[in-house]
Amino acid sequence: MTDIVIDEIVVPSTLDPDAASGPGPGPDHADRVAAYVEAIALENAVQAEVLGFGDLDFGPAEQLPQWHDPFTQRRLFVVRAEGRIIGQATYETLSDPAVTTCWSWVAVAPEHRRRGLGTALLDHVEAVARAAGRTDAISFVASGQGVAAGQGVAAGPAAVIAPADRLEASTGHGCVPRASSEVRFALSRGYALGQVERISRLPLPVDEEALATIRSEALAAAGDEYRVHTWSGPTPRRWQSDVAAMATALSTDAPMGDVPEPEDVWTVERLVEAEQRRATSGRASLTAAAEHVPTGRLVACSDLAVPDDASRPAMQQMTLVRREHRGHRLGWLVKVANLDRLAAEKPGRPAVLTFNAEENRPMLAVNEAVGFVPIGVEGVWHRLL
Ligand SMILES: CC(C)(COP(=O)(O)OP(=O)(O)OC[C@H]1O[C@@H](n2cnc3c(N)ncnc32)[C@H](O)[C@@H]1OP(=O)(O)O)[C@@H](O)C(=O)NCCC(=O)NCCS
Repeated sequence: MTDIVIDEIVVPSTLDPDAASGPGPGPDHADRVAAYVEAIALENAVQAEVLGFGDLDFGPAEQLPQWHDPFTQRRLFVVRAEGRIIGQATYETLSDPAVTTCWSWVAVAPEHRRRGLGTALLDHVEAVARAAGRTDAISFVASGQGVAAGQGVAAGPAAVIAPADRLEASTGHGCVPRASSEVRFALSRGYALGQVERISRLPLPVDEEALATIRSEALAAAGDEYRVHTWSGPTPRRWQSDVAAMATALSTDAPMGDVPEPEDVWTVERLVEAEQRRATSGRASLTAAAEHVPTGRLVACSDLAVPDDASRPAMQQMTLVRREHRGHRLGWLVKVANLDRLAAEKPGRPAVLTFNAEENRPMLAVNEAVGFVPIGVEGVWHRLL
């Protein structure tokens, strides 16, 4: 394909097409809304095609708050043919100018592949990154596991990838399908596979017997020193600084394999602002946390993003236990408490979905015990620009 034209979409601040105006220059607001919605629809359709299921979709309204996070900068680029968006790329970095990391993702409609569109979009995003002084490019790239064909679920994530087709992560944990378009594309672009994450699904309702066993084991291990708190929506004021500290810790404490993720600092102000933005996204937040009673501090936390639409699955967000409080089954404690809360407050969702690093055995053990089963893999790719 010659003459590939890449346009940037200025993401509107609201999806109401009749709103007076959106931010920035460019076409009028209604056109921006239409373009943004079309680009996100392509992203979700392409991701569903790769995975064989659409459960991971975040719709245009659900994503909108992320596009207006003052602590990150996100840009959306598209390629059109005959007036339709046929390819898109997302660029993201932290607003802190000292940060050298950026994240990107490229999607091309199936009928337009192998014509250089993906290359042109990624070249463009990498040029944007270099111009901003970003030298570490990271891309999270999901691959299916034959779930649509009914394979894979019980066998574990690697088992359904034929041995000859396995590309192992440099961590030694997990693999991705070497022959897939997305993996070949990343390799052809000079990216290295620094980590593999497992995508897992917990069908709901959870088996109450299994949950009761885990709940009582977790309560016994945690003892009287820890007390569970749950809430929905914004973090109660008394816990804001502890939750902000845990969000910061998550950026460096979660296993990162051979991918250099930067520290992402959360303050109370940032937390409050982010929670206000998320309030209108069409996903409710349910949180369970553990207080260390002797110090009165929260030391473990788990939250779920639950779509208002009951036919869609909930998504596991952060789960963290502060380092000095590990080994007391607090991860189990908060996960089970949050599943209880989900069943009581937002019943009827078909499943919970989660992503975990393949080397994160403690977290995978919690999830397996609760009943999560693997449904896909996500390669974390890194390249020095
Ligand atoms: C990955 C993706 C973006 C590639 O888009 P594309 O427009 O087909 O990419 P290009 O035409 O620029 O291909 C560039 C190179 O990637 C490799 N490649 C891409 N798809 C391939 C395939 N199916 N088989 C073999 N090699 C492939 C080739 O080396 C190709 O160069 P070549 O055509 O000269 O041999 C597209 O397949 C897609 O949207 N996949 C699903 C979304 C996704 O996983 N995105 C993550 C990527 S960051």
